[in-house]
Order: sequence, then structure tokens, then C-alpha cells
Amino acid sequence: MTSSNRTGPWSGPAIETAGLVKTFGDNRAVDGVDLRIEAGTVYGLLGPNGAGKTTTVRMLATLLRPDGGEAHVFGHDVVREADTVRSRVSLTGQYASVDEDLTGTENLVLLARLTGHSKKASYDRAGQLLDAFGLAEAADRQVKNYSGGMRRRIDIAASILNTPDLLFLDEPTTGLDPRSRNQVWEIVRAVVAQGTTVLLTTQYLDEADQLASRIAVIDKGRVIAEGTKGELKASVGAGAVHVRLRDAHRRPEAERLLRRALDAEVEPEPDPVALTARVGNDSGDGGAVAEKASRALAELARAGITVDNFSLGQPSLDEVFLALTGKHEHTGATSPAEQTKEATA
Ligand SMILES: Nc1ncnc2c1ncn2[C@@H]1O[C@H](COP(=O)(O)OP(=O)(O)OP(=O)(O)O)[C@@H](O)[C@H]1O
Ligand SMILES: [Mg+2]
Repeated sequence: MTSSNRTGPWSGPAIETAGLVKTFGDNRAVDGVDLRIEAGTVYGLLGPNGAGKTTTVRMLATLLRPDGGEAHVFGHDVVREADTVRSRVSLTGQYASVDEDLTGTENLVLLARLTGHSKKASYDRAGQLLDAFGLAEAADRQVKNYSGGMRRRIDIAASILNTPDLLFLDEPTTGLDPRSRNQVWEIVRAVVAQGTTVLLTTQYLDEADQLASRIAVIDKGRVIAEGTKGELKASVGAGAVHVRLRDAHRRPEAERLLRRALDAEVEPEPDPVALTARVGNDSGDGGAVAEKASRALAELARAGITVDNFSLGQPSLDEVFLALTGKHEHTGATSPAEQTKEATA
């Protein structure tokens, strides 16, 4: 894993850690983390508040010194070769880097100038990024007057001014509305298409699902599950089908029908017209569930049971933890997929 005696481009993993540890007093915030992240991919680090995501990222970005284990970025040791690592990575944090009192353009131009671009090149690059990020109209406004979504986009724009080899995105969409989340996702995809490796931390399973090819679930400083999205989802089950009926008195019949059609546990909700089915999915492929769910809806319609609302939700992070650890982890984060994938039948 060392870079000594090496010429030519690095062909190993973008990130490799072994037994990485960070303690704060008695708190082992990162407690022996092993990661291997292939170059050119998006890797998701998924976990609740306090899991150790930011601490891990900060060690990899050379902002914090590990207390144990080791970490290499493109083959360079994050402690002994911190300068080299720093020149290859870019971090957009939960705590952002742009100056509130400057405008969008001023921020990007300043950063471009600081990293050695000519004045003209800096303005060109700033204009390009502001366009690409849908911020052209806000270019001359002070960043402190930006909305949360605009703010997050300017942060990411700042972090990719010089296309980094490795980009850390620490909860890039926490607190954003669904539309802004989608915009940020599009940006991330565009960055990856340029060859950048992305380490994304998130509390949202659906975000990791949208962007990442592999995911590590981290809890209390430890990796409790790792794999492709399919593997992870298969271990959890595909999610929940929520149905709201027009008439409460048809519910027992609807419950029986759904149980048969979905081959799943169906539970009545406290709301007398609502039912929820937990659907498992061995293949880890959401498509099969969607198909089953639409067949079930058709059967309800044939039985003359009116469905007012129907939604297919991914398992929440809470359900992932329940499946992986057998206990609930209260994160306070609900999966926005629950709200955005609604369809009225
Ligand atoms: N500078 C610090 N000093 C002391 N404790 C810290 C420090 N930074 C983090 N911690 C502690 O380390 C643990 C992990 O924190 P970390 O910020 O890495 O979690 P996280 O997974 O990023 O959570 P969140 O989703 O809330 O951002 C927490 O218990 C936190 O209180
Ligand atoms: Mg964090």
C-alpha cells in the first residue's frame, strides 16, 4: 500500500484503510474501520448521527490525525504524505467553505485565483460552474442570501473548481427539498463522469442507493455491513407498500387480498383506512417489488375496493439498522423516498 518506488499512474484503490481509529477522550468515534474504495466510483458511507462518518472523512482528508491503523489515498499515507494527499482531494463538508459575504462569482473566482488560475481563466471557470449549477441568476448575490439548496450547490461548485481526483461529500443533501436533492445528485453524477472518485456520507438510504455503487453501513465507529447496493438491500428487504383505502369497512378484505398478492406481512395502521405491507426481496432489485405492487393494486380494483393513495417506500435507515443489528437506531432522519415516490391510484 505504499507509494515508494512507484512511477506512472496509480492503479490501486482510491482509498484503502486498515483498522483506522480515532478517539476523543473515552469515545472511540472511529473504532477500527477497514475500507477499500475503487477509483472512479461513488462509495457511500451510510450511518446515523454520531456514527463516525465525518471523523472518518476528516482523517482521509488529512484534517485529523488517526490514533490507530492506517489509511492510504491513491497509495499515499494520509499522515506521512499528507501534502500529496491534500493535493489530490477536495472536501465539501457539513460545514462549508465559501465566504458568506462574497457573491457566488466572487467566491469561485477567489478560490480559482488562490489555486493559480489566471484572472481570465478564473472568471471563465466561475461562469461555467455557476451556469452548470443553475446559479447564473444568483451569481452576483451574496452567498448569505442564498437558499439552503443554492448554498449546497455553491459549496460543491467550489470543491470541484479544479476537478479533484477524489471528492468527499459529507451529507451533501441533508435538509434540502426533493428538487434540490435531485439537482445535487445530477451534479455528483456529472463529476463522477469526469473520472473523479466520490466518497459520499449520508443518513439517507435512498441517496446512497441513487449514487453509490458500494455502501458501507457504519454505526458507533464500526462498519456493520458492506457491499453492493443489491447485496445490502437484499439483506434488508425491499421496503414497504403503503395503501390508503376510500372505505374503512373494506379494510379487512383488502388486508387479506394484499397479503396474498404481495406474499408479505400486512399490518393495519392506526389510521382506519391505512395498511402497510413489508415486502422482502431476495434479488435486491426494486423492480420486482414494483411489479408485485401494481398487480396487487389491480386486484384491489377488480374487487371493487377503491384506493385513494398508494406509495412504494424504500426501507428507511431505521429499518436497515433493525435488519442488520436487530435493534432500532433512532436517527431522526426519515427517508425522503417515502414522500417523493407517492402515486395516487
Ligand atoms: N472534535 C471532536 N471532539 C470530540 N468529540 C468529537 C469530535 N468530533 C466528533 N466527535 C464525536 O465523535 C463521534 C462521531 O462523530 P462524527 O461527527 O464523526 O459523526 P457523524 O457520523 O458524522 O454524524 P452526523 O451524521 O451527525 O454528522 C460522535 O460521538 C461525536 O460526538
Ligand atoms: Mg457528520
